Amino acid sequence: MYNTAELIDKLKTETILSRDEYLHLIKNREVIRERAAELAGSVCDGIYGKKIYIRGLIEFTNYCRNNCYYCGIRAGNDKADRYRLTPEEIIGCSDSGYELGFRTFVLQGGEDPYYSDEILSKVVRDIKERHPDCAVTLSIGERSYESYRRLKEAGADRYLLRHETVNREHYGLLHPDNMSWDNRVQCLRDLKELGFQTGAGFMVGSPGQTEEDLADELLFLKELRPEMVGIGPFIPHQDTPFGKETAGSAELTLFLLSLIRLTLPDVLLPATTALGTIDPMGREKGILSGANVLMPNLSPVSVRGKYLLYDNKICTGEEAAQCIECLKGRVRKIGYEIVTDRGDHKD
Ligand code: 5AD
Ligand code: FES
Repeated sequence: MYNTAELIDKLKTETILSRDEYLHLIKNREVIRERAAELAGSVCDGIYGKKIYIRGLIEFTNYCRNNCYYCGIRAGNDKADRYRLTPEEIIGCSDSGYELGFRTFVLQGGEDPYYSDEILSKVVRDIKERHPDCAVTLSIGERSYESYRRLKEAGADRYLLRHETVNREHYGLLHPDNMSWDNRVQCLRDLKELGFQTGAGFMVGSPGQTEEDLADELLFLKELRPEMVGIGPFIPHQDTPFGKETAGSAELTLFLLSLIRLTLPDVLLPATTALGTIDPMGREKGILSGANVLMPNLSPVSVRGKYLLYDNKICTGEEAAQCIECLKGRVRKIGYEIVTDRGDHKD
């Protein structure tokens, strides 16, 4: 059998393991997680220093044509209080974010056909014109190659599209029949081909996920080589079919952050809001496990309580306007520093 400590060292040196070796680490994570976090932290430090990049998240629509079983803004949730930001409002968020020091804006929304290529291209162009030193990231789900091409042409730099699970059958358990794993992954390949810095990712502990799937996630990421990887624990939302399922664990998410850092040393890896929701110190622990990005919310406070993918989401109330200051303090306390450059991927 494997020597667990040797395996984690091997991962650091070789940046890849076999499926069985990854699986062994995942199954024996209790004995090795501190060492994994330490190694992941030092690898990250060696490449990026003790710097944490911030991305201003603008959640511009919670309308969605899809019906993913886990997601609180699924089309079938008639309790969701829907909103759309106007182009002027989106641009306003980027302006106030710029004043706060943000140099990346992430435009995220449900798959909302209202936002045509024309409308979105204009928003992207306007933001890039007003803030030429900023990166624009889109996170708006599956679109056609032609649509991605137009958005790239408009100036979008990056695109986040989590694949949600590496396992085709598992994908079928999380999504209705009109969605397919193959299409999802094709979108990721299209985005890469078009020159977007691309982010993939998955939920940890979604219903039906196995440890074998997690080992496959690491191999899949190694093969895909995304510039960014977003992972966070699955958290049930009461008005979805998975409302009574158990949440994913912070501890497993943290361990996987470390394995991802060791597998893709220069990847941009956020400590997500979901991680901060499941554990009040989750984002700090994420950074100490190898994450190097935070994505505070820049949406108007009035809509923050409406973009609810899962229950108990943090930073949606009165405190929300203060997130930047709050995060600066939290990050400093653990020996890191929030920086305001664009924070592009280092090749
Ligand atoms: N719990 C955790 N993460 C979720 N997401 C959607 N619903 C949930 C949930 N209930 C994640 C998905 C999606 C990203 C925007 O949010 O991974 O890609
Ligand atoms: Fe939002 Fe602390 S990060 S209140």
